Amino acid sequence: MSDDGQTGPSADEPSGPEPPRAPIEIEILTLFPGMFAGPLAESIPGRVQSRGLATVRVHDLRQWGLGRHKTVDDYTYGGGAGMVLRPEPAAAALAVLRRPDSTVILPDPGGEVFGQARALDLSKRSHLVILCPRYEGVDERIRAMIDLELSIGDYVLSGGEIPAMVMVDTILRLLPGAIDAESTAEESFTAGLLEYPQYTRPPEFEGVAVPATLTSGHHEEVRKWRLKEALRRTWRRRPELLEGRQLSREESKLLAEVSHEENVRATDETTRSSETAD
Ligand code: ADE
Repeated sequence: MSDDGQTGPSADEPSGPEPPRAPIEIEILTLFPGMFAGPLAESIPGRVQSRGLATVRVHDLRQWGLGRHKTVDDYTYGGGAGMVLRPEPAAAALAVLRRPDSTVILPDPGGEVFGQARALDLSKRSHLVILCPRYEGVDERIRAMIDLELSIGDYVLSGGEIPAMVMVDTILRLLPGAIDAESTAEESFTAGLLEYPQYTRPPEFEGVAVPATLTSGHHEEVRKWRLKEALRRTWRRRPELLEGRQLSREESKLLAEVSHEENVRATDETTRSSETAD
């Protein structure tokens, strides 16, 4: 692997409109091209492609298979269950598809964990080639052909197709023009935090009312409420995300309020449960 890790945008980084750029091109090498038709043709990924912001091409790896049977896999040397992807079909496919500007990606459970910062980094590149392994894995010599090994989490899927779809979907929606500017602004407003709670109609459901601030029509109060609740949710569920984040002055102040409120709440709960036990 020859790729450097990237860090995400800091909270204070300027985010002006980006200049127009050539559509990103993504090549997917797979033994199951049919798997991609649905997920990448619908919704945001489909729209991004029909708007010409990206071109995704799916290639059947078997066309580079060996011999009359177009073989792509074989038994593992040393014995053991399962078949391993041979290096020749991957090398032949990459000899055709690789360009000087390519980033060649291998979905692999042992790779760097794919996150939003890496997705943003990849969305700025011009040509991605994703080689989807099947079988029990890949011949070790394939790794030398790869720029970046990426895992989508600590579990093992039956192939690289679903991870490739996850990556492509995440990358495509980050392209300028893929989703409306307001959603992008919302995302950068709370970048690195979990989403704030959202409500729609009815104003009250089974005794739970929509927080009054959200129906007040006071935009600044709504903005502050959302930021604070995004911080609260992150503090409760994924505190480690806050450790790696540079907080603005406003975020630090709101986080101090959250931490105070949450400590008071925890103390109240402890008191209540000890009273019930008595
Ligand atoms: N292939 C199998 N499992 C995977 C995972 N979790 N991430 C990426 N590629 C995989």
